[in-house]
Amino acid sequence: MRVVRLASEIDFAGWRTAARSLRAEGVEPQAVVWTVERELFSLENAPSVTPPIGAAPPPPQAGQEGEAASSLVKRGRWLAADTQRDGGGAPTFSVPASFLELAEQVIQHRSPDRLALLYRILWRLEREPRLIDNPADPDMARARDMAKAVSRSAHKMKAFVRFRLVEGAASETYAAWFEPAHRVTEATAGFFVRRFTNMDWTILTPDACVAWDRERLMVSEGADPADAPSEDAQEELWRTYYASIFNPARLNPKQMRQEMPKRYWRNLPEAALIPELIETAQERAAAMVAATPRQPSDRVLKAALRHARDASYEGGIPAGLDEVEAGVAVCRRCDLWRDATQGVPGEGMRHAPLMFVGEQPGDQEDLAGRPFVGPAGQVFDKALAEAGVARDRTFVTNAVKHFKHELRGKRRIHKTPDRGEVTACRWWLDAERRLVKPRVVVMLGATAALSVMGKPTPIGANRGKALQLPDQSQGLVTYHPSFLLRLPDADAKARAYAEFVQDLRLAGELAGLA
Ligand code: URA
Repeated sequence: MRVVRLASEIDFAGWRTAARSLRAEGVEPQAVVWTVERELFSLENAPSVTPPIGAAPPPPQAGQEGEAASSLVKRGRWLAADTQRDGGGAPTFSVPASFLELAEQVIQHRSPDRLALLYRILWRLEREPRLIDNPADPDMARARDMAKAVSRSAHKMKAFVRFRLVEGAASETYAAWFEPAHRVTEATAGFFVRRFTNMDWTILTPDACVAWDRERLMVSEGADPADAPSEDAQEELWRTYYASIFNPARLNPKQMRQEMPKRYWRNLPEAALIPELIETAQERAAAMVAATPRQPSDRVLKAALRHARDASYEGGIPAGLDEVEAGVAVCRRCDLWRDATQGVPGEGMRHAPLMFVGEQPGDQEDLAGRPFVGPAGQVFDKALAEAGVARDRTFVTNAVKHFKHELRGKRRIHKTPDRGEVTACRWWLDAERRLVKPRVVVMLGATAALSVMGKPTPIGANRGKALQLPDQSQGLVTYHPSFLLRLPDADAKARAYAEFVQDLRLAGELAGLA
């Protein structure tokens, strides 16, 4: 029997090294016992120690920062490459990159059998190279379930960690206590670094603590809930925020409890609001419904749900713009719906010869539920009028239907949608294009161009000329109105605006509208 002792529960690098040697020596899975060294953080190679909250962190030792987190994110074809390099006669075989990705997630699962399961899959992969694609295989099914549970746990952590100001700290420092369902703390730390780069913070969990001092990420042993500070003014802020994003029309208490399981409530200041929000929701929902022009029919709703809930569902296209509208309202094809007030579908003439595609709704569009009604919309309307194109004879929409943003204080700051979000939302844009059948499609800015052209299409090099689109319509790329608003130099702004008007005029002419 071989006993492997890993440095920690999530020591992927250690597992990888051990698995590689065991595999090369031909040690069968049933002959291996996988264990974990419990004393990691008292050993001399501990990555660092969480400073007492509010105290200045100790200077890092070279190479220590964020070690656990970064070892989790490094990817590679280690097994194939390394066994070949060994050259010691051990048989070489490659491991699909998808196995490594899976293994990095599975190792974060709390189940004690995960390490053995991964080695068993690795062992079998040599003889069964297609194993990784077999969802019915019990080992693969178990590993995939574990990976899903880990991914859900990371998602909950990102959504429910709430920082509190640490009273009496030497400098402004925040801390949060969180109990993740799986060991996702280190792997999720990068998200918080990106999100709260300019804050000093510590996240304490029973498994590990991660601390960021605006420069370095430090990882240390798990903490006790008593170490986390409690009440402060931040909580009121969170409550206000939560109350303002709460969309009563979406209220489904069962789903809400699934999304925000009760076990997380005690760490969430805004959870105190839930009972009251549920009580007043009916009234608020009624007001929203009254403001909605019409309720979609059952048929449309059913079709919309089918299109909206399953990103892999490609069968059947929406039969009408009403299905698109209802589908966008309940869309879950990507995660952007979570922070947005509502989805914003395109609007305009049913068979408009000219379609405009923007990037995504902005703050005001998100509240109004209509595209281009905020500051960018005003520039757009002015330029359209100067180009002699009547907006009500066109169709105006966006590449992405939900407002992607981040909160800075009370302000919601626009964030550019990523390629995955653009691809997920292209389903709706394609449906709008198939239904409206415009002769000309104008792409306002780079995101619209990426979505319509299916590849990055620089605006400067392509504007002003008609491009042939696969559906026989003509495409034109031009500036996004927000780009014009942001140009700091008055002359450059005037020049770009004149070109924008010229592009809209050309679009109107090609579509027979100007
Ligand atoms: N910017 C866009 O791209 N679309 C809108 O609807 C508003 C602002």
